[in-house]
Amino acid sequence: MRLKRIKIGKYETENNVFFAPLAGFSDSPMREICLSFGAGLAFTEMVSAKGILYENENTKDLLTVSPAEKIKCAQLFGNEPCIMRQAAESEYLSDFDVLDVNFGCPMPKIYNNGEGSALLKEPKLAEKIISECKKSGKAVTCKIRVGLTDGDFLGKDLAKAAEQGGADLITVHGRPKERIYAGEVDYDKIAEIKKSVSVPVIANGGVFSEKDADILSERTGADGVMIARGALEDPFIFSRITETPPFLKDKEELIYRHLDMLKSRYGDELAAVRFRKQLCLYIKGMKNSVSVKQKLACFSDCDTIKKAVAHLFHGEKAEKE
Ligand SMILES: Cc1cc2nc3c(=O)[nH]c(=O)nc-3n(C[C@H](O)[C@H](O)[C@H](O)COP(=O)(O)O)c2cc1C
Repeated sequence: MRLKRIKIGKYETENNVFFAPLAGFSDSPMREICLSFGAGLAFTEMVSAKGILYENENTKDLLTVSPAEKIKCAQLFGNEPCIMRQAAESEYLSDFDVLDVNFGCPMPKIYNNGEGSALLKEPKLAEKIISECKKSGKAVTCKIRVGLTDGDFLGKDLAKAAEQGGADLITVHGRPKERIYAGEVDYDKIAEIKKSVSVPVIANGGVFSEKDADILSERTGADGVMIARGALEDPFIFSRITETPPFLKDKEELIYRHLDMLKSRYGDELAAVRFRKQLCLYIKGMKNSVSVKQKLACFSDCDTIKKAVAHLFHGEKAEKE
């Protein structure tokens, strides 16, 4: 795909290949890893605007930033414009340059509360949310879906409303809410949204290889791509697409580095617990990975994980050394 810088308000990214917001995964160590491999931008997972106002400890933790983040982006969810504005202006978000509003989350807890993808039905309210967030003086972006079902195209009106509200960039996930994360990406709908607004549009969905990125970018005409699950399994993907020399040799080295980063951020035990699900993604498809997955629940410190990983990569030889 053609690489280029993207303007987001007064900021400019290094390139147009972004790492997606991912609840439970895109914490500061993972964002740092993806940025070091060449991602042009990375987002926190979605955080509740109300959680910020209620000074929820967990929310505060999600908003920790890494020095590797030259442009710091937090994703917010909520549906009350004045609360969104207060959150945007709060001390908790003072480190952040860009606020991304979540208009795509399909989870019942969020959707049934009128938040996330439920805003696809409320373009006027979405516009107000964006314009209120803009009053914070930060750049404001949003992440939407093409629609709620395959049969509607609510994303087009939402994109126009977001632009009207002052959005500086719009990311479009090319699957409707009803399909969560499954099935084909609707390139044509993303392309139509791209044509209907003048702010940069980033296409999201189904990128697991350089070829997927080429196809998504060409078929949609979008200004860039955003990668979610493909990057969780293989953050080297950013290096290949952006032609950035990888800062680590291979997956094994990546696993050890990631564990070390988590350990210094969360402490040994919590790091090990947090890393379990990430490890499954890193070793997905490897011969004998099933035997490691079966032992996951026993991994309660980082050294135990490192030993199991060394055994997975080198077999008996690792144990003798
Ligand atoms: C485990 C998981 C957590 C996610 N969390 C968020 C989130 O916090 N905010 C958001 O906008 N999207 C979230 N998403 C959606 C992704 O950002 C992305 O839109 C979706 O996975 C499609 O991209 P992909 O096909 O590259 O995976 C999440 C997806 C997954 C699988």
